[in-house]
Amino acid sequence: MIIENQAMVTEAVIEAVNRTEDPRLREILLALVRHLHGFVREVRLSEREFQEAVRIVADMGQKTTPSHNEVVLMAGSLGVSALVCLLNNGNNGATETQANLLGPFWRDDQPLSASGDSLVRSPTPGPGLLVHASIEDEKGNPIAGAEIDVWHSSPEGLYENQDPGQAEMNLRGRFVSDATGRFHFRSVKPAGYPIPIDGPVGELVKATRRHNFRPAHLHFMIYKPGFKTLITQIYAPDDEHIDSDVQFGVTRALIGNYLRHDQPSPEFGPATPWYSLDQRFVLEPGEARRPIAPIRAKATA
Ligand SMILES: [Fe+2]
Repeated sequence: MIIENQAMVTEAVIEAVNRTEDPRLREILLALVRHLHGFVREVRLSEREFQEAVRIVADMGQKTTPSHNEVVLMAGSLGVSALVCLLNNGNNGATETQANLLGPFWRDDQPLSASGDSLVRSPTPGPGLLVHASIEDEKGNPIAGAEIDVWHSSPEGLYENQDPGQAEMNLRGRFVSDATGRFHFRSVKPAGYPIPIDGPVGELVKATRRHNFRPAHLHFMIYKPGFKTLITQIYAPDDEHIDSDVQFGVTRALIGNYLRHDQPSPEFGPATPWYSLDQRFVLEPGEARRPIAPIRAKATA
């Protein structure tokens, strides 16, 4: 097709994309072209702005390394990750779900821990945290033998892969639920943390006059064949950013009942305060599949 005017560009691209053999890929590409061209028309994107857009996309790729994923951060900062999650869980978005964002910090090589173990692998000052969790199916039956990855930030708001001061795999572990579907562990209470703003995500956050904090949370991933792998986060309600998460992740179902204790305990000795969390997870039937790990390594100093 020889292009006579701006409207014909879209026609030409749609004609080209229509040749895609795979029906799902064809559907996605047709909608992508329709929305992308519609977007350019709606904002009347200038040549200068288009050059800026190209730079931003290239910067996201160049900023991504084995220990940092700027693309995941951008998807979260635009609410795309939250939208994809909520559309695909809870009976395809019809009912409340415990599913939540994977985030950029999961590692697929977290060490196996025994129930009751501590996730603290190098000195990490902060209030103690004792977590008991149960895994159930939709009828309330316990799920034994589920593999549960846990990972979280330090009380200073840094994941071990971001912090050369923490030991390899600090505040990370992988547990297996017992015959009653339960497991427990000790750790330190995570803090909310700022997402990195030295790249394109930072430009977005500054331009939109938002803070760049996520409220404190624990990450869990629960894997058991026969059930849809549950990727979730449990948020701390006492965090000042609980209702303004820069990644739009906090849903009503995921605000955890973290309890503060001011008396000494067998787990943490005389140190107070410490916190406890009793958390129940419900798995939907479906395909068990671990995601592609967004990072693979710890940052080097
Ligand atoms: Fe996180």
